[in-house]
Amino acid sequence: MVTIPQTRDTLVLGIETSCDETAAAVVARATDGRGRILSNVVRAQWEQHRRYGGIVPEIAARAHVECLDEIIGQALREAGIDLARLDAVAVTAGPGLIGGLLVGVTTAKAIALVRGLALVAVNHLEAHALTVGLTEGLLPPYLLLLVSGGHTQLLIVHDVGRYQRLGTTIDDALGEAFDKTAKLLGLGLPGGPAVEQAALRGLAGRFALPRPMLGRAEPHFSFAGLKTAVRHQAQSLVPLREQDVADLCAAFETAAAESVSDRVRRAMEIADAQLDTHWEKHLVVGGGVAANRRLRESLATVAASAGYELHVPPPALCTDNAAMVAWAGAERLARGWTDGLDIAARARWPLDPDATPALGFGRLGAKA
Ligand code: KG4
Ligand code: ZN
Repeated sequence: MVTIPQTRDTLVLGIETSCDETAAAVVARATDGRGRILSNVVRAQWEQHRRYGGIVPEIAARAHVECLDEIIGQALREAGIDLARLDAVAVTAGPGLIGGLLVGVTTAKAIALVRGLALVAVNHLEAHALTVGLTEGLLPPYLLLLVSGGHTQLLIVHDVGRYQRLGTTIDDALGEAFDKTAKLLGLGLPGGPAVEQAALRGLAGRFALPRPMLGRAEPHFSFAGLKTAVRHQAQSLVPLREQDVADLCAAFETAAAESVSDRVRRAMEIADAQLDTHWEKHLVVGGGVAANRRLRESLATVAASAGYELHVPPPALCTDNAAMVAWAGAERLARGWTDGLDIAARARWPLDPDATPALGFGRLGAKA
């Protein structure tokens, strides 16, 4: 049984290796529940994956093995503490690429075992979901839009550990659609920022692209058709000029933002009907695609018209990082929720295990 110190800050080391960022961070949680980042080290692997045009799982796992120890050492140094002062190690145990997850989980177990620290297995999606508690001290309930390279979901965060999924994608994740669009237009990795940059010089109105799922009662998403529509338009223009690419990017980004905003509007209606009158109406956006300016502007309009306050953590805490993992670990630790050394890495780990699959789910290789 791990005793949780009540009279001083709880210090948690976070480790994140679920995809293509190797990250470690130290976060403090004060006795009043407020969080503070003491260090936050992220090393991206784009260079190793670039020539393949996408993330190669085995390369990602090897890159984590090579640098995780060094990244953890740097996080501790920058925080100005050593392992002896830590209260817990929190590690992303899923969902994600299994090779990378194993590297992080094994390392976390070793540190916890040798130092006698509490171990907390963190769901990567929960880490994104709770980030706003670290950055703004916002407490549940709130509506969460999670848009990353692997996930696109709308959830009601009722409490730490209690999530209700309202909507999910039936095919590609939004970040994946950005990445694939970038690839087919010959833009580099990472795709999302490349599309956003190109779109700045483009005219969105030049191409008519679909707004997937518009008006559907359930707030699910679909982006595969949109991406295919971009491909058809691009093929009809070959060879593509720089302006064609910019216009296609602007049209894609606008269509994606409008589709997402429509789905969020629907989720707001559901949340409003479900939560009682004391519901304060907060919309939180997390995941890498939250960095996209056009999406944020579109969501700000939807939020304002529905009486919601919009919360978007700073971009560095929206994309994958270990501060969010440490924070989710600190929140769990504060509730006495720790894990044993027998925890397993989980490639799939839904936040809401009771959610019914979306109609059409799996048809096009969708992720949970
Ligand atoms: O949350 P994240 O860092 O990693 C995952 O858990 O997937 O999200 C990465 C995704 C990538 O697909 C990337 O292209 C996308 O977020 N992304 C963006 C932008 N910045 C990152 N998409 C659109 N616009 C951006 N500015
Ligand atoms: Zn993520």
